[in-house]
Amino acid sequence: AHKGDKGARGLRFTPVAPNTADRVTVPEGHAQNVVISWGQPILRGAPAFDPDKQSAKAQAGQFGYNNDFLSLLPLHGEHGRQVLVANHEYTDEILMFKGYDPQNPTREQVETAWAAHGLSVVVVEESRRSGRLSAVTRHQLNRRLTATSEFRLSGPVAGSALVRTKADPRGRTVLGTLNNCSGGTTPWGTTLHGEENFNQYFANAAKVTDPATAARLKRYGVTGEASERKWERFDDRFDLAKEPNEANRFGWVVELDPYDPESTPRKRTALGRFKHEAAQPRLTDDGRPVVYMGDDEKFDYFYKFVSSKRVAKGRSRAAHEHNLTLLDEGTLYVARLTGNSPAAEIDGTGKLPADGEFDGGGEWLPLATAGPHGAVSHVDGMTAEEVYLFTRFAGDKVGATKMDRPEDIEPSPHSGKVYVALTNNSDRGKAGKAPVDEANPRNLNKHGQILELTEHRGRAEATTFGWSLFLVAGDPDDPATYFAGFPKDRVSPISCPDNVAFDPHGNLWISTDGNALGTHDGLFGVATRGERRGELKQFLTMPNGAETCGPLVQDRRVLVSVQHPGEVDGASVEKPASAWPDGPGRIVRPSVVSVWREDGCDIGV
Ligand code: FEO
Ligand code: CA
Ligand code: CA
Ligand code: CA
Repeated sequence: AHKGDKGARGLRFTPVAPNTADRVTVPEGHAQNVVISWGQPILRGAPAFDPDKQSAKAQAGQFGYNNDFLSLLPLHGEHGRQVLVANHEYTDEILMFKGYDPQNPTREQVETAWAAHGLSVVVVEESRRSGRLSAVTRHQLNRRLTATSEFRLSGPVAGSALVRTKADPRGRTVLGTLNNCSGGTTPWGTTLHGEENFNQYFANAAKVTDPATAARLKRYGVTGEASERKWERFDDRFDLAKEPNEANRFGWVVELDPYDPESTPRKRTALGRFKHEAAQPRLTDDGRPVVYMGDDEKFDYFYKFVSSKRVAKGRSRAAHEHNLTLLDEGTLYVARLTGNSPAAEIDGTGKLPADGEFDGGGEWLPLATAGPHGAVSHVDGMTAEEVYLFTRFAGDKVGATKMDRPEDIEPSPHSGKVYVALTNNSDRGKAGKAPVDEANPRNLNKHGQILELTEHRGRAEATTFGWSLFLVAGDPDDPATYFAGFPKDRVSPISCPDNVAFDPHGNLWISTDGNALGTHDGLFGVATRGERRGELKQFLTMPNGAETCGPLVQDRRVLVSVQHPGEVDGASVEKPASAWPDGPGRIVRPSVVSVWREDGCDIGV
């Protein structure tokens, strides 16, 4: 480490000060490179990026827009190479197309946007001399999945009458994945991708007359007439008046096998349908996967799925095929939390209760179980099919705890404790809305909090847990903040935690979305154990308008998604709000950035 850089092992760097610079600012002694950007060709035959000649055909072979979740997987037999998998959450047409008219998008623009959504698989190669990473164009594993690629519905909802459409009368094959936000990497070598705000792509919910269907659409935020992107003008399936079941085919967790470019990814319906932010697995002591998941909406819930099947070890074909069935059978649970301090002490200001902590206990309430011969509901008045398709109603019925926008959730590979990012909730405590509780203790919560959950006896499949708020975010000078009890004059300000990840030392890394303190979003590291528990340090900051996503922390490298740079009200291709990454006069491009130490040592040691 540099002289004077103190901190927990893995966090010994000089923190970056909050700022509003139009660049990625990294700590002194660190270097960075742009690994891949929107439009960079990755498939054979794809043309070089030219924003003036962008087409759907070109985009289908190029890296997509607004990279979010990132996974890096080993590539055996190819030294210095890894497989990068990225989500492309959504498109910003006004920043992609010159002269874009939001009222009258052209077919080419719409089809380009379809091709810019979805997932990318791209092999990356590290430099022998530094942490620089670069894409290996045309590698045989490179792949694009878009809003028109084939996905298979799998698990209890596959084939259901509620997912059948004119184009797919059997209810098993869906075209596309949409709004892939965060995700997870499984121990069996696949990746998971949450379909989050799918509601925005569907038009004419207001014209749906069946009251049950209308109520379901409303609970999922599918409302109104024309959609923002007007896709319904170019494909009837985005028009709910014509194809009322199409929206039921989105809002799932997708599982992708990045090592098999011929494979059809699955939408795993046993994990429920909501605005899936993330899906991070771990294993029980007897080898069954448990997946933690957040539903990113004000006053919505967080969940876990416990598989009834064990992971098969080894790299045989039979083991692999077995492992691709693990997420189709098991039980889906939702969380209910109870505080241990008197309700009167939770006054909405963020002031700690008399016992010195926002903490308590909780239960995982079973919603439905999927087995080899069908599924059973555990919710009175709902069938299993309804629980899986309209999971939010199941959470409502069993009395799950309404949280401040559950974003990413990640179990620590070191301690087994689970960290839940609750990003903010500007409506908490408003008239007619849920009041504060001990887990969501601030009215009009602008800055969010991170909850630490301890499963009973540390068992991933437990049905009860303890919890406490690990961080109550904001400016440390604000008395309504808490950094696990660490002295607040020695921590970085943080606002709106979104994605979480662990480094090899067991420190928690947190990326932010929508900093309400007036400076740019960034990436932070914090110790979760030992005497420096709660010492939060900022590692990098984002360019203008960008959100930090997809952090991955390896020994020698931090990888981060710079999502929607230049996304500022009133900005367009002609009037850019950022010159990142290619400089003034060039189109703004969402990109993946690698950061490493100039002296070649491990990050933060
Ligand atoms: Fe796509 Fe919840 O952030
Ligand atoms: Ca308490
Ligand atoms: Ca997110
Ligand atoms: Ca977010």
